[in-house]
Amino acid sequence: MEFTVDTRALAKLEADSLVTYLFEQEKPVEGVLGQLDAASGGALTKLFASGELTGKMLETTLLYYPQGLTAQRLLVVGAGKRDKFGTAELRRLAAASVRTLKSRQVKTVTFLARENDRTPAAAQAIVEGMILTNFYSDKYKTDKKPGNEITAAALAGWDESSRADADLGLARGRVIAESQNFARELGNEPSNRLTPRMLADRAAAMAREAGLSVDILDENKIAELKMGALLSVAQGSAEPPRMIIITYTPSTVKSGAPVLGLVGKAITFDTGGISIKPANDMEKMKYDMCGGAAMIGAMRAIAVLKPSCKVIAVVPSTENMPGGRAQKPGDVQISMAGKTIEVINTDAEGRLILADGIAYAKQLGCTHLVDAATLTGAVVVALSNVNVGVFGSDQAFTDQLLASSKVAGEKMWPLPIDDDYREMIKSGIADIQNVGSGKGGGAIVAAMFIKEFTGDTPWIHLDIAGTAWQDDVKPWNAKGATGVGVRTLVDLAMKFGEDGSASK
Ligand code: BES
Ligand code: ZN
Ligand code: ZN
Repeated sequence: MEFTVDTRALAKLEADSLVTYLFEQEKPVEGVLGQLDAASGGALTKLFASGELTGKMLETTLLYYPQGLTAQRLLVVGAGKRDKFGTAELRRLAAASVRTLKSRQVKTVTFLARENDRTPAAAQAIVEGMILTNFYSDKYKTDKKPGNEITAAALAGWDESSRADADLGLARGRVIAESQNFARELGNEPSNRLTPRMLADRAAAMAREAGLSVDILDENKIAELKMGALLSVAQGSAEPPRMIIITYTPSTVKSGAPVLGLVGKAITFDTGGISIKPANDMEKMKYDMCGGAAMIGAMRAIAVLKPSCKVIAVVPSTENMPGGRAQKPGDVQISMAGKTIEVINTDAEGRLILADGIAYAKQLGCTHLVDAATLTGAVVVALSNVNVGVFGSDQAFTDQLLASSKVAGEKMWPLPIDDDYREMIKSGIADIQNVGSGKGGGAIVAAMFIKEFTGDTPWIHLDIAGTAWQDDVKPWNAKGATGVGVRTLVDLAMKFGEDGSASK
C-alpha cells in the first residue's frame, strides 16, 4: 500500500473512497462532517435523523457518488463514545474501513482525520490499522485470485502547516505495521516451510537488509555453549535447532548504558514431544514460534526507527518432536546457567528453551529482559484471546511496558508472581522441575520457572498463547497469526532509549 499526505480541500480529494468517522450521538454538522454533509446534499443529517447513522463503534455507512465530492464513495465509520476514544480506537476503525472497502474492489482510499486527530500519533495509528488489515496472502494457493488489496492510501485533514506531523506518524506507522506483518507471515508459515534453519535464514536475510548484525548459532555451537535445556527439546527432532541473535547498536552508546534484551520462544512445531498433544487442533502448533517472530519483527522496525539504546534479540528455535532420541518424562537436564531441571512433562518445552535464551542474553550484556512466548494454555483460561498475560520482576519496568501496550493498542494485563509459587517447581531430584506440583496457576508457574534464570536482571514475561493467533476474522484484523507484541516492544524500545533506562 502506497501512502501519501493529501492537504487539498475536501472537494478535491480524489479516491475510490473517502473515509471518515462519527461519534455516538454526534449530529454530523460540525467541521469536516458538516462539510461532507453539505457535499452529500444533507445525506448524513438525514441518515442521522432516521436513526441509521448512530456512530456506534465500527458501524459502517457507505454513500455512493456524493455530489459535491470527487471521491466516488463516502464511508462513515462509527467511532463509539467520544470520551472513550483514543488512538487504539482510531487504529481499529481505520482497519475496519479497509476491511469494508477491500471486498468492494476499491483500490484507493483517502482517510480523513477529524479535527482533534491531526497529530503524529493519530497518523501513525491510522496507517498501522490500514496496513494491518490490508495484509493477505495466497502464497500456497495455485489458483491465485486477483488481489483485492487497497493499493494506495492518503491521509487527509492535515494542512501544509501540520504536514510534518502527518509525515512523521506515517513513516513510523508504516515501518511498525510492515514489521508486524512480517512477524505474521512467519507465524502463518506451516512447520515444513519454516523449520528452525529456515527461520534463522529469514531472520538473517531481514537483518542484513535492515543493517542489523546477526549471529546464528548452529547445533554444534549450541552444544559447545552447553545449552542443555534447548538441546533437550531439540534431541527428539531430525531438524537441528538454531539460536538466532540480532543486534541493533545505536551510533553513539555510552559505556554502562542499559541494554534491552528481547527473548522470544520459537518452537516451529510443538507436538508436545513424548508427552504428546491430542490430535485435535495440533495443526495450530505451527504458531508456537510467534514469540520469536515478534522479537524478529520488532528488530526490523527498531533498525529503521533507531532508538538510542542497544537492543539484542535472542531467539532459541527448535521443533518439539517425539523422535527416538526424544527426552522422556523424568529426565534431568543441565541448562546453560548450570541449573538442573527435571523434565516432568515434555510439552512444557517453551520454558526450557527460554531458560537458555535468557542465560545467553544475560551473557551478551542485556541489563533488562523482555521475553514473549506462546507458553501456556492456562493463560487462555485466565485471559481468553483478549489480553496478553504480563509478569514482571521490576514494577517500574513493567509499568513502562504496560504504558507502551496502551499506546500501541495491544491489550495486556498483569498477573501475579511471587515466591510462594516457587514451592510448586521444587524437584525431588534436580534443582527445579518444569511443571508445577500444585493445582492450577499454570501460567504463573511457567513464569516462575523462567524467573529462576533471570537472577537480578529486571525482567518481563509476556504469555501470548491466547493472543498470537486469531481463529476468526475480526473487523479490524485477518485470521491467523496476529503479530502481537511487535508494536508494544517497538514503543518500549524507543522510550527505553530516551530515558536511558526504563526502570527509572
Ligand atoms: N505451546 C504450548 C502452549 C500453548 C497452548 C500455546 C495453547 C498456544 C495455545 C506449550 O508448549 C504447552 O504445551 N504448554 C503446556 C504446559 C503444561 C504441560 C504444563 C500447557 O499449557 O498445556
Ligand atoms: Zn508444549
Ligand atoms: Zn509450546
